[in-house]
Amino acid sequence: MAVVDDERALARAVAERVIGAGRAAIAARGRFELALAGGSTPKAAYALLATAEFRGALDWKRVRFFFGDERCVPPADAQSNYRMAKETLFDGLSIAADRVFRMRGEDDPERAAGVYAAVLLRELPETNVAPTLDLIMLGMGPDGHTASLFPGSDPFAGDELLVRAVYVEKLGVHRITLTPRMLGAARAVLVATAGDAKAESLAAVLEGPYEPVRFPSQILTRVQSQVTWLVDRAAAARLTSRA
Ligand code: 6PG
Repeated sequence: MAVVDDERALARAVAERVIGAGRAAIAARGRFELALAGGSTPKAAYALLATAEFRGALDWKRVRFFFGDERCVPPADAQSNYRMAKETLFDGLSIAADRVFRMRGEDDPERAAGVYAAVLLRELPETNVAPTLDLIMLGMGPDGHTASLFPGSDPFAGDELLVRAVYVEKLGVHRITLTPRMLGAARAVLVATAGDAKAESLAAVLEGPYEPVRFPSQILTRVQSQVTWLVDRAAAARLTSRA
């Protein structure tokens, strides 16, 4: 885990880790397969990656973009994670459309989940567990959700699937999300979270009893992937061991 001063520093740290993972993947395998997250911290990191400072830091033509989750709305909707990534990252870096693999939030959620699983199987190298992404970016909500694995239902339910449609009762929305199986098969996972609204759940996730139905982000403490937590001081405030 790394703790940085504030949200600004967090966005920079995320951008730097993405560049580092990208360079390593390209050096080792000639390409970098990255899954993006929605939310405010990733958004700030994407905007940074598209600036002159970072643009030249990676061979972006060798990067292919996937998504960790999506809201079930059309791609032009203000809620769409794809739209956010397009506006903050893809447009600024002139990423070709054929290097972006989005979840089809405009389609029936179950069907879109199945279609995306087929995309992952077709496009990514497969280990014995599941198709392997080089890096999955994630956030964590104040309720302990990650990707679109929300509290109240078993994050491992349907985990033979790679991608799952979920209905988030408290928000009254449908989402599409990678399952723990996909998250666990990635070479690396980067979880970034900021702000005092996350402090309590971060402490519960990392230091409390293992209750993944209550705090789905806890699955990240038990997956095979190399997981890095990047948090700001406010989010780390309730941690006893790492503050
Ligand atoms: C989304 C997400 C979600 C997000 C968390 C944290 O589509 O909203 O992928 O899991 O990462 O809700 O969001 P913030 O960084 O905005 O707090």
